[in-house]
Amino acid sequence: MSTSRRNILAGVAGTVAATATVGGTAHAADRTGTGSAATGAADAGRPAAGGRTPTKEPFGKLPDGTGVDRWSLENGGIRMKVLSYGGTIQSLEIPDRFGRYANVSLGYDTIEEYLAGTTYFGALIGRYGNRIAKGQFTLDGTTYQLPVNDGPNSLHGGTQGFDKRIWDITPFVDRSGVGLVLEYVSADGEMGYPGTLTVRVTYTLTADRTWRIEYEATTDKPTVVNLTNHTYFNLAGEGSGDIYGHELTLDAARYTPIDATLIPTGELAQVRGTPFDFRAGKPVGRDIRTGNDQLHKAQGYDHNWVFDKGSTDEPKLVAALRDPESGRALRIATTEPGVQFYSGNFLDGTLTGTSGRIYRQGDGLALETQHFPDSPNQPSFPSTVLRPGETYRTTTEYLFHA
Ligand code: GLA
Repeated sequence: MSTSRRNILAGVAGTVAATATVGGTAHAADRTGTGSAATGAADAGRPAAGGRTPTKEPFGKLPDGTGVDRWSLENGGIRMKVLSYGGTIQSLEIPDRFGRYANVSLGYDTIEEYLAGTTYFGALIGRYGNRIAKGQFTLDGTTYQLPVNDGPNSLHGGTQGFDKRIWDITPFVDRSGVGLVLEYVSADGEMGYPGTLTVRVTYTLTADRTWRIEYEATTDKPTVVNLTNHTYFNLAGEGSGDIYGHELTLDAARYTPIDATLIPTGELAQVRGTPFDFRAGKPVGRDIRTGNDQLHKAQGYDHNWVFDKGSTDEPKLVAALRDPESGRALRIATTEPGVQFYSGNFLDGTLTGTSGRIYRQGDGLALETQHFPDSPNQPSFPSTVLRPGETYRTTTEYLFHA
């Protein structure tokens, strides 16, 4: 491990271990999705997180008249707003080194803009995050066709993925923190995928300024699953400019190179000596203009990095991001084996964000923890198959500090 990476990642191992202990999936499974269970936990004399129960307000309607709720929650110095539409993080406020808050996630002000958008700002992504080549895969001898919505490929679950569904949301306050349980049942055959998928996602804000996401899913037929969150971060504040000065560290010696349609070639290439080497930490923009075929194909970074740690039972620290000017920083711990780092290449000045400012290329970046893209067609990649009787479980934590 290089010295600078050790510096960036140092000092949080204890924090992660502590949050993992109280926030394991077993504990999440205790929550039956009722507010009373949450209250009961606090009443039982456990160390309370000190937070208030999240509240909701209306956030417009879908074209068919269905109401969308916006939930507000706060704990440990994080303030978050979440939409029932797509489980979307509409706003994420954290303090800088002087305690000044800014919304560090790209988003919109109205439901109409979310409905029209194709950027997945803040959204919960499924049934399969990232791309499946030609929208096709074969499982147990049957070939399935998914809607194609990204050139020849299926991206982020198809035309009506989990980011465009209304989630059932139940708030809680318990010893793990303040949070929301989001539930959605995806019908057998929805967007071409086999099996009824019952999904539960828990967002928790802990007392020590961590946002934890726990994903769980079960199926009644063999299927493929890859759930993630598509928050675009700008730690200087959304709408404040580009993220090229943010320092990014990725604990990955390899990444998955792509073809012209952004599908992995199947190779796990070494990052050493390429613009893809973020192991020692460097500004996002340092090498982004290098004449490099991979950067050219994606118009910047839009690739999957392969974490050295692989898949793990407990979340492990694998990435760090820091805005040197404001001092706002985050570290990412995950159970997942990879991350899609997307440098906001397709933001083109046509969208107006939450605070009324226009988003241009590079004005936000996404770090989507995940299994590798196109895994259902890549036998050498870790499997994304879920079978009846198994439970899909992954956890990702964003640890903020300044
Ligand atoms: C993911 C993809 C990108 C892009 C964004 C949304 O990050 O990898 O290519 O499609 O979603 O614009």
